[in-house]
Amino acid sequence: MTETAKRTFLPMLGHARGKRSPLTCQLKCGNACAMAECNHSDNGYFRDIASAALTRRSALGLGAAAAVTIGVVGATPEAAQAGRGRSGLSFTPIAPVPNTVDDLTVPEGFDWSPIIRWGDPLFTDTPEFDPRNQTAAAQAGQFGYNSDYLDIIPDRGGRTGVLVNNHEYTNENIMFPAEQQGDLQRVVGVAMAAHGMSVVEIARTAVGQPWSYVRGGKRNRRITLSTPFRVDGPAAGSDLLKTKDDPTGTLVLGTQNNCAGGTTPWGTVLSGEENFNQYFKGNGSAEQKRYGISTEAPSRRWHEVDPRFDSTLPGYENEPNRFGWVVEIDPQDPDSTPVKHTNLGRFKHEGANVRVAEDGTVVAYSGDDERFDYLYKFVSAKTYREGDRAHNMTLLSEGDLYVAKFTGDTAAEIDGSGRLPSDGAFDGAGQWLPLVVGGESAVEGMSVEEVLVHTRLAADKAGATKMDRPEDVEPSPHTGKVYVALTNNTQRGTAGKAGPDEANPRTQNRDGHIVELTERGNRADATEFGWNILLVAGDPAKNPSVYFSGFPADKVSPISCPDNLAFDSQGNLWISTDGAPGTIGYNDGLYRVGLTGGERGNVRQFLAVPQDAETSGPVIHDREGMVYVSVQHPGEDGTFEQPRSYFPDYVLPTRQADGEFALPRPSVAQVFAAGRGRDPQFPGEISDAPGRSRNRGKRRKNGERGPRYRGYRGKATPETKKAAKAAGRSY
Ligand code: FEO
Ligand code: CA
Ligand code: CA
Repeated sequence: MTETAKRTFLPMLGHARGKRSPLTCQLKCGNACAMAECNHSDNGYFRDIASAALTRRSALGLGAAAAVTIGVVGATPEAAQAGRGRSGLSFTPIAPVPNTVDDLTVPEGFDWSPIIRWGDPLFTDTPEFDPRNQTAAAQAGQFGYNSDYLDIIPDRGGRTGVLVNNHEYTNENIMFPAEQQGDLQRVVGVAMAAHGMSVVEIARTAVGQPWSYVRGGKRNRRITLSTPFRVDGPAAGSDLLKTKDDPTGTLVLGTQNNCAGGTTPWGTVLSGEENFNQYFKGNGSAEQKRYGISTEAPSRRWHEVDPRFDSTLPGYENEPNRFGWVVEIDPQDPDSTPVKHTNLGRFKHEGANVRVAEDGTVVAYSGDDERFDYLYKFVSAKTYREGDRAHNMTLLSEGDLYVAKFTGDTAAEIDGSGRLPSDGAFDGAGQWLPLVVGGESAVEGMSVEEVLVHTRLAADKAGATKMDRPEDVEPSPHTGKVYVALTNNTQRGTAGKAGPDEANPRTQNRDGHIVELTERGNRADATEFGWNILLVAGDPAKNPSVYFSGFPADKVSPISCPDNLAFDSQGNLWISTDGAPGTIGYNDGLYRVGLTGGERGNVRQFLAVPQDAETSGPVIHDREGMVYVSVQHPGEDGTFEQPRSYFPDYVLPTRQADGEFALPRPSVAQVFAAGRGRDPQFPGEISDAPGRSRNRGKRRKNGERGPRYRGYRGKATPETKKAAKAAGRSY
């Protein structure tokens, strides 16, 4: 039998033109781009033209004063300078990195190291990583696969903290040797344990030094497909959520496809369940079709191991309804039960990010990452109380849900070419259309439970605007303005599909764009907003349809497929990308862009991830000179036997010491000024440092061996670079 024939999992489908590796498309999104789109509603362009007579300012009464009001808890003195391009982090932008380079490229004067990698053991009794003999039990105690959302939450004093990370999906082709591919119980068991989330304690010798993870840390936790979640909000206990294993409709095992997320002002982490549809065998209902759940048997074959993933089986019709939520976990309490919040609606949540309004109302923004899907906002019924964590953890349980409608002020001029309208801006007015208000459904013919469980159908009825795949949606902690990453939509304006509009102004939008949204009066709970496009992405050297808010296009770093967003202490926006290798031919990266003054629109590239990888979960602690990223799916198109990346250890097949493996490992990486952390301390050494805050005086006890990072010092060698360059690629 040939090696290919033995690989019974995850067959490669055809090339998904214009995006990333087709394998990433299949594994990450269930090949959503190659399938018919889920949204067949007639929402879109024509509505926008019809209401284009409303100009932005007349509709909103927005004035300059309103636009600069600070209504954000935690707003800092730097707010006045927000977005002026200054940062605690001074760097010379890197040149774009060709998509054949298997290296994490950082600016001159910076260095990097992994904090934790797929397979690193979290607990003292967890087996060491051994990918040739991986088991579900071992994986359940080890760091999961394909890191996405990331936060680094230091404790008081800054020498200890927790790292929180999402594990979005698995790539069995790389995770298992070919001869194990047919072992369904093993492969599915490990995969289920490699999904979910990790909470890991971290420690360092001083603020600004690189972190090491603490094996056996008191707060360490793995959340997998078997972790119980409590369902809360108006749809908890609904008939639509009941299964034969959970007749109460209030307790779900597991979370999956956790993509981006957000850390709340009260210190919990929100995580978005995104492409859950691809794991279920569907029953062909209209509701399931709208969510992209296919009646074909899923290639991951989870349904053959666990019947709840087959919704055609009696008693499991509703199991898919139990995924697609925003979940909230408390990283400080490993014994807490995480929650699925039904009040934020069910769709392919990229993530969720919170802003606290002046009156204490909490607002959560969330994108539905599918082409032609929507942007949502939740507004809490109760208000934030500083320091009252127990109360604040109930804030996302009760409130109103809205979906966005965008209206361009020069809509008739939008021709899909990306040409700027005569008023010099892609901009206009917007409305938050009500779905649930005051505990009542605002959608005719649908109950509150139906609106929250089948939110996409409710938003279709409400008349929301079809967007170019809303990914991360982040309110600036400095100004309250909200930034929406629209990653791409190659089908915009193609036959039978919604055409361009002013908020999505390019046909066949391969490179994506970012919308900046200003709530009316800068009130987070407003029902109207103004908006404009901050940047229309692409490589200016090859693509005239780019726009950087007037900043000279020939002076910016080329950028494509914006995905995750973050802010630094000076109010600059940081953008990580997912898909640039297949569009502009460069490895994905992390970029800083100024938002105000002469620096507005100035995109400067900070780092690039290795080949096939996407940059995720950026965390910018610029005051300390530290930047953190999740490096997701390095070497995606390779196999266990023929890797296409050796990140982050760069151990070659010919040079494997005992306990080393020549394969890519999705990891969390930290970037710091060169010269710091000359000898990064491994967990076994640092763990005896006395804890701070609640662990003061206690000593941590770890296993004798920490993980080995010995390979990374060499980074990509001429040998690995040559091998990477020679490897076949599919994009
Ligand atoms: Fe998991 Fe929307 O990317
Ligand atoms: Ca305009
Ligand atoms: Ca993403």
